Amino acid sequence: MDFNTVSTFQRLGVPPNVINTVLVIIIVLLLAPYVGGTDFGVFKVPDFPPTIEYLLKWIGPFLLLVFVILFIPAWKTNKVEIGAEKKDQPNAVHSKSKYRLQSTPDIILNELHRQNVNTGGIRIIPGINIHDLKKRIKILNTQLSDERINQLVESARETAFTSKYAAPKEDEKLVSITELKVQGIQEWHIYLEQFLSRLGVPDIKNIDVLDVGIGNAYASQVFLGSCASLTGVDISHEAITYAKNKLPNAVFKIGGAEDLKEIESFSMDLYISLRTYQSTLFDIKESLHEAYRVLAKGGGLVVSIPNMFLKKNDSGKIIGVLYGLIPPGSTAPSVEFAMQISEKIQEYMNLLGFKDVELYKESPFEIFIGARK
Ligand SMILES: C[S@@+](CC[C@H](N)C(=O)[O-])C[C@H]1O[C@@H](n2cnc3c(N)ncnc32)[C@H](O)[C@@H]1O
Repeated sequence: MDFNTVSTFQRLGVPPNVINTVLVIIIVLLLAPYVGGTDFGVFKVPDFPPTIEYLLKWIGPFLLLVFVILFIPAWKTNKVEIGAEKKDQPNAVHSKSKYRLQSTPDIILNELHRQNVNTGGIRIIPGINIHDLKKRIKILNTQLSDERINQLVESARETAFTSKYAAPKEDEKLVSITELKVQGIQEWHIYLEQFLSRLGVPDIKNIDVLDVGIGNAYASQVFLGSCASLTGVDISHEAITYAKNKLPNAVFKIGGAEDLKEIESFSMDLYISLRTYQSTLFDIKESLHEAYRVLAKGGGLVVSIPNMFLKKNDSGKIIGVLYGLIPPGSTAPSVEFAMQISEKIQEYMNLLGFKDVELYKESPFEIFIGARK
């Protein structure tokens, strides 16, 4: 393992202004016994009694020696830990980013409280899906029918996603690639096209495409605009209204990925879902069951997990990118967290019988997971 050596001051995390103040005090104590009684014009140093003068002659040098010792890099520290501590702030997503506003789980719980639903301390964390939440709410609210619980939970989820993502906002995929300052970076859809051709999916101009979690389509319009036959699904009515303006030839359905009831079985040649499977309350397994159902035999499946955020300075100017996905309770993206979710999706694709399952990490924007039926 790699180590760094740090001084006692660094190890204790003493701020530089405190160190400077201590140094000034030590210098004053060092000089004091030799300037007692001196008149500097603006002020006169008092005469010290002989015992005080004697003590000061020892205290000043002693404190200077301790001060110097505290500066010696004597402590070994794990490099990763130091790096993580120092980088935590610079690596946090900018405070004005949509990801730093109220979190989706908080909005969902607030919405349920507004409807007088007892949520009894339920924590909406990754791994908890919409069915888990409905079941727990049923236990806590026996007076509510299953139908009412469905309606309340789904409406709270829609409100949360609408308020966070429906309206066009800052998006890594919409920023010009020269501004991202990543060497060799290409437009985001080039990586998707490369992955589709690797999976052997025919040209999207000739096939029926379904985009689940299409959102407002501002970022994906550049790719989806060339589909001859496109159906877009999202839980947010408002997002769909924006998407309709961007893609006037597409068909749109409002609903969850977990229940694509308006899409016929075996009807689609390509199912895509970009930056959606990591969403709060998303049921990955159930959604993949639905993907399997709606895909025609041999159809392609591509899901992506976001893996990049804009890095900005204090005035909001883009100065680069941060990689990863933000774990709950953090403001700094983690690549491990993005990989964990991607690997879980890959595992479920294998489990449910998809063929040629592949995890594709070439894109700096997102991790792709794909397969064929
Ligand atoms: C981060 S946006 C991504 C939008 C678009 N696919 C893109 O890559 O730009 C996630 C979208 O997924 C939608 N969403 C979240 N959970 C969903 C679910 N269970 N079923 C369908 N859509 C969902 C949200 O409403 C939101 O529009």
